[in-house]
Amino acid sequence: MSEKKPYYITTPIYYPSGNPHIGHCYTTLACDVVARLKRMQGMDVMFLTGTDEHGQKIEDKAKEAGITPQQYVDDIVANFKRLWERLGISYDRFIRTTDPYHVESVQKIFETLYKKGYIYKGEYTGKYCKPCESFWTESQLVDGKCPDCGRDVVDASEEAYFLKLSQFAPQLEKLLTDEELNILEPKSRVNEMVNNFIKPGLQDLCVSRTSFKWGVPVTFDDKHVVYVWVDALSNYISALGYENSEYNEMDKYWPADMHVMAKEIVRFHSLIWPAMLMALDLPLPKKIVGHGWITFGGGKMSKSSGNVVDPFILTDRYGVDALRYHLLREMPFGADAPYTNEMMFNRINSDLANDLGNLVSRTVAMVIKYFGGTLPVEREADALDDELFSMLDALPAKVIADYETLHIADALEAIFKVIARANKYIDENAPWVLAKDEAKATRLATVLYNLLDAVRRCTILLSPVMPHTAPAIFEQIGAADDCTTLEAASIKGALKADVTVVKGPVLFPRIDVEKELAELEALSPKKEEKPEIALEPIKENCVFDDFMKLDIRAGKVISCEKVKKSDKLLCFQIDDGFGGRQILSGIAKYYEPEQLVGKTIAMIVNFPPRKMMGLESNGMILSAQTAEGGFRVVELGDNVMPGAQLS
Ligand code: MSP
Repeated sequence: MSEKKPYYITTPIYYPSGNPHIGHCYTTLACDVVARLKRMQGMDVMFLTGTDEHGQKIEDKAKEAGITPQQYVDDIVANFKRLWERLGISYDRFIRTTDPYHVESVQKIFETLYKKGYIYKGEYTGKYCKPCESFWTESQLVDGKCPDCGRDVVDASEEAYFLKLSQFAPQLEKLLTDEELNILEPKSRVNEMVNNFIKPGLQDLCVSRTSFKWGVPVTFDDKHVVYVWVDALSNYISALGYENSEYNEMDKYWPADMHVMAKEIVRFHSLIWPAMLMALDLPLPKKIVGHGWITFGGGKMSKSSGNVVDPFILTDRYGVDALRYHLLREMPFGADAPYTNEMMFNRINSDLANDLGNLVSRTVAMVIKYFGGTLPVEREADALDDELFSMLDALPAKVIADYETLHIADALEAIFKVIARANKYIDENAPWVLAKDEAKATRLATVLYNLLDAVRRCTILLSPVMPHTAPAIFEQIGAADDCTTLEAASIKGALKADVTVVKGPVLFPRIDVEKELAELEALSPKKEEKPEIALEPIKENCVFDDFMKLDIRAGKVISCEKVKKSDKLLCFQIDDGFGGRQILSGIAKYYEPEQLVGKTIAMIVNFPPRKMMGLESNGMILSAQTAEGGFRVVELGDNVMPGAQLS
């Protein structure tokens, strides 16, 4: 058996500084489409995604929340994974930069670059954008602000290690402009890199920090942690086992076939990353693609702008494949795409409910109505078939090439043109007229067969984008597995001649746009008010045993004090019926400590002890959000005994 050809595709590793939003979905979905396509082509795919967990911003946010950075990221990373599961993302590996094997790789990479003389010690002064963790030169600022996010920058200076990026300028320019290599797409990004960064003079890059601790320590100088971007970019090789013993797949998968990201981080991937790889004597990735942004009211959608549309709510209400289809259909290659709920509803109604859904349901219904569900095998061709056939024949090559190069919207447009043509074919052939004349039964069967076969071929090509819908369609049109492979998309008439169809549920119910807009509006947090008070979606089912693992008890608050230097934490002494315990809780903003003394509260008592601000916490007090966005502890009746178990 010949060995499968490897294919390695990556998303950026996302910052778990806030929960994932629709913006993060696009890149991950686009990679998922390519990964699924490559698997259909019989390749051995490594699809990598993950989270970029170090840096000052995370350290600050954790401090604000009164928890450790690790605890802070653990919660958010779980939400990223939950979202990817919801969206059917078929990643093969999920890397976290806090994984010990990754830390080991980063430390060795830094050491190697230092030993080889590519990293040296110096002093950094510059303009620093805290949220972006980026230093900028004066000339790169836009109106004195960070060119990436438009926020204020501050003067910063520190002893630091530098990567000799300047030394790589000629090689980088050659690399990016080499037409044969064609490493960076779209081409407009090449000009941007060369004209804005390389031509003005590439500076050496500051690659260590002393101003915070939440990072990978430099092994030979532990005041310093490694700059997040050096840490983060290394994920693409540490995830394959470069300089660690967790994996051993560098030979198999490196160099990457495609690094995918949005435009704002192309700079890091097409300048710093290739320079690091050259310095390490490693081959360069074959392709870097920087797509546009999903925008929402003009700007890049992000958590901080309060304009987030919750992908959990959208998929709950309209289905996973509808959201997948919409996002992938809407983003033209290399450009930005606005997102509105209304656009999504219109798209679902026109493409999915009207065109695709109707084609399938009408065809299946006619096979049932005119032939009892099973077609006879005789055929009678007609010139009316030709255009549909030739469009179907041309489709696979176009769609595959578009998917492979991330022109996913173009591929979908092409598929839906054929679907529209198939709908027109129904009208041209008027099966309801053919059905009236018994002599035309063979032609009628042919028309219906051609329609089913067209649906089959289009659905195969749609399946990387709509992996949940495709099997449902195959079932309805009676397409067995052997005629749903990628190769079978190019084969006319692969569907069994005496095919039997099955009526199935409506694939995409029509959306009442006005009604849904009003309902979503009612569900969404009001921007000016408190965006935090959107309800969390209901979690997945768990079993009673999961609940029984938690030991939830009643406790009486003996004393309660503010924790020094923390504006979040309260320190409770609690009668727990077993001699008492100390618990810290991040609710200082919502109570005066004395309000809580004497109350009987609910608490989880079997979490391992945890230190916060130097104090030990032995449990967690349960509380819930108020309509105003505050928090109230769960209060139990005065006659409930301290130590009583909640069940
Ligand atoms: N941690 C870095 C990446 C390190 S990769 C070695 C980072 N993280 S991020 O959480 O900010 O993610 C940025 C990426 O998320 C974008 O490049 C893009 O892939 C995706 N997107 C986030 N918001 C987006 C939109 N509004 N639209 C499209 N993609 C967006 O940068």
